[in-house]
Amino acid sequence: MTQFNRRQWLKAAGLTGTLAIVNGYQAVNGSITTSEVPSPPINGLIRLNSNENPYGPSPTVREAIVKGFDMACRYPNAFSGDLVEMIAKKEGVAKENIVLNGGSTEGLNITGLTYARDGGEIIAGAPTFLAMMTYAEKFGAYAHMVPLDNDLVHDLDAMAKRVNSNTKIIYLCNPSNPTGTIVDGNQLRDFCKSMSSKALVFCDEAYFDYIEEPNYPSMMELVRDDLNVIVCKTFSKVYGLAGVRIGYMVARKDIADRLRENVPAYTNMLAIEAAKAAMEDAEFYKYSLAQNKISKDLIYKTLDDLKLKYIRTHTNFVFFESGREITSLVKDMKGKGVQIGRPFPPLTKWCRISTGRVEEVKQFNSALKQVLS
Ligand SMILES: Cc1ncc(COP(=O)(O)O)c(C=O)c1O
Repeated sequence: MTQFNRRQWLKAAGLTGTLAIVNGYQAVNGSITTSEVPSPPINGLIRLNSNENPYGPSPTVREAIVKGFDMACRYPNAFSGDLVEMIAKKEGVAKENIVLNGGSTEGLNITGLTYARDGGEIIAGAPTFLAMMTYAEKFGAYAHMVPLDNDLVHDLDAMAKRVNSNTKIIYLCNPSNPTGTIVDGNQLRDFCKSMSSKALVFCDEAYFDYIEEPNYPSMMELVRDDLNVIVCKTFSKVYGLAGVRIGYMVARKDIADRLRENVPAYTNMLAIEAAKAAMEDAEFYKYSLAQNKISKDLIYKTLDDLKLKYIRTHTNFVFFESGREITSLVKDMKGKGVQIGRPFPPLTKWCRISTGRVEEVKQFNSALKQVLS
């Protein structure tokens, strides 16, 4: 076992008595410096299992959160106007189209509850991010899970064939979790347009910022065209705010109004201040993407060395075929101090690994080589 607690780790890293480096990211006079010192493991483990961005929050966002405490005695709904306006401007929609939430998981839950409860049907890929389906099923919804195609991309034709008069929502996670794939941009647009006349199309764009294909379309354009489409975005990924809990949905006014009846749309004062500062911090945004690319390339190199099949990703994680049942790989990697993704049936020999910090990825790479040798 090479698991460290925080104190042991600090000692090993020569940092006892100082915690000057925060997540290895510092902005000094507008330019970015990074440290080679890894962030401390949590409960003795490096977390590469939840697609977090461990460089966040950026220093300016931290400052904004601290300032936000001055307003922490206030209910936030009266103070979210500036953020909503910033989001509306960024997405090219009106403020009425924005539904703030406490992260996309909340948005997914609320949408399933609003539109599919009591026998409504949802169509989604398999495997995919399950939040909407898991939650809505508790309230009587039924989920049709449609297998991905051979390239582990959403099978849009097969999904279209499953639509029936009872279909309430088509959930499209694009880029997809856990595979990291995207569907062809033109096919995506055609699919969403034609399906939106039959049911509500929910495009989960949590990882949109990481897409490497130039000019890839966001389905926000269909919301602007007043179609029956919801797009959700989150501050959890590229902005590094997963623990702060803030995100938003964008939809036609009547849909947004209906969702807002169920979403408290409160979030909290600190999250609102954090999100505003994050949207203005272009340096950190660029930095997050650049670091993600470095980590991805390091993972690819290791998987190439090990001759393992993997998917070139449009996200902050890589999905690869380990050749081992994932539950036993998880256990062995844990023994090496690295937490990796859980099983994604039916692909139980595939492993999802988050990009994490560069130093963490190096540790993952060496652990994987040891475990699989
Ligand atoms: C596709 C997808 N959507 C939504 C979420 C949830 O994000 P949030 O932290 O905003 O709840 C995740 C989290 O990993 C995700 O992978």
